[in-house]
Amino acid sequence: MNYSKNFIKPCVGELGKKALRVAITGTPGTGKSTLSKIISKKTGCLLVDVNDFAEKHGLFTEKDVKRGSWIVDEKKLKKETDAIEGNIVLDGHMSHFCRADIVVVLRLNPRELKKRLSLRGWSANKIKENVAAEVLDVCFLEARKKCKNVFEIDVTEKSPSALAKEVIALICGKNREKYAQKRVNWSFEFVSVLRESI
Ligand SMILES: Nc1ncnc2c1ncn2[C@@H]1O[C@H](COP(=O)(O)OP(=O)(O)OP(=O)(O)O)[C@@H](O)[C@H]1O
Ligand SMILES: [Mg+2]
Repeated sequence: MNYSKNFIKPCVGELGKKALRVAITGTPGTGKSTLSKIISKKTGCLLVDVNDFAEKHGLFTEKDVKRGSWIVDEKKLKKETDAIEGNIVLDGHMSHFCRADIVVVLRLNPRELKKRLSLRGWSANKIKENVAAEVLDVCFLEARKKCKNVFEIDVTEKSPSALAKEVIALICGKNREKYAQKRVNWSFEFVSVLRESI
């Protein structure tokens, strides 16, 4: 589907804003970047890769020695991304730490997530930790704590283009009630997926 680059204006007006800030968050591997790129291309919103942004602006301040990863300064991230003007799509599992008018949390069946993360060659521990985070709704709960207008969407078995169409409709105000309810529940997968050796 083709959208006029100005289509987003009515949505912005509806929210009483000058510009629209959409955050696409979720556990690593759920498809945030794939989706964000399509949304940006179709709507003309500026794409901001939050991980890249944090790295370029020196916002990773501490090292998590156990995981070998860097920890972001959340306050600085919020402050620095606040300065970005215009309609934007914030892509990344920390995007809900930024100021956003709408937060979309991508949810993926843990079995599929495990497959995708294994393809990345990640260690068994790192995969297990991320699959557990997905089962335990970590991103969703964090987003709900920090932001208003948080919507979750089960992306399992949806093609990137079908998903983009659905999320753009959501941004434009369609089916908000449906996505605002807590519908995803991966607990039935918990025992089988986490017990398997990965
Ligand atoms: N809708 C989809 N259907 C099937 N595969 C997908 C879909 N979206 C993304 N993928 C695939 O899943 C993998 C992860 O996608 P992507 O890099 O977009 O995830 P991400 O959430 O941005 O991950 P990260 O948090 O690590 O940046 C890629 O191999 C991508 O091609
Ligand atoms: Mg990504």
